Amino acid sequence: VILTQDDLKKIAAYKAVEFVESGMVLGLGTSSTAKHAVDRIGELLRQGKLTNIVGISTSKKTQEQALSLGIPLSDLDAHPAIDLAIDGADEVDPHLNLVKGRGGSLLREKMVEGACKKFVCIVDESKLVKHLGGSGLALPVEVVPFCWKFTANKLQNLFRRSGCAAKLRNDREGKPFVTDNGNYIVDLYLKKELGDLHIASDSMLRIAGVVEHGMFLDMATTVIVAGELGITIEKK
Ligand code: A5P
Repeated sequence: VILTQDDLKKIAAYKAVEFVESGMVLGLGTSSTAKHAVDRIGELLRQGKLTNIVGISTSKKTQEQALSLGIPLSDLDAHPAIDLAIDGADEVDPHLNLVKGRGGSLLREKMVEGACKKFVCIVDESKLVKHLGGSGLALPVEVVPFCWKFTANKLQNLFRRSGCAAKLRNDREGKPFVTDNGNYIVDLYLKKELGDLHIASDSMLRIAGVVEHGMFLDMATTVIVAGELGITIEKK
């Protein structure tokens, strides 16, 4: 049998849901991979194999999915401590640092996943990289719409030694992509490694106009990788 990438995503997602226990407060991720996990949680609730779950969604999209599956929802205000979150990632480095947000929901993800005792990240093997920003794809940064070019230029300048190009993300109609929080996304394309990721993270956050960025450092406690040869589970 040849497994598709979506099959691998589903395998990783189902494995992660094995960590879910009745009574848990769960962070529900936003991605084509996490979607399978949310579906599975809904299915187990329906079958009565899981009970008393409270879901905390990381996006409007996931909120709709969870509602359609009958998963009870709440928020971080009511549940500031979450037992477990399950979400995908765009890149995973050997230290389990992540890039997230290519789907556009990094801010809520970072808030929810930062409030979790356990954060299980689920990916297919194509997401594994030697260093973040190493895939040639975007490092997303959520910025306020006000004078976004000014903020984008600051970001590009900050990482000029890494050959950074900052581009505003557009939607399918060519208009600026707007996040769930009413902000824009500037995607950073890097030619070289960033060096110390914590310094890079702090420097981005110090730019007025930056709301949050898609590097999730020291947040994933477990990464489940589904590949052609099976599943590997890496823990912090
Ligand atoms: C959502 O904005 C992202 O953080 C996703 O978690 C990430 O893009 C991974 O998505 P896929 O599982 O769809 O690749």
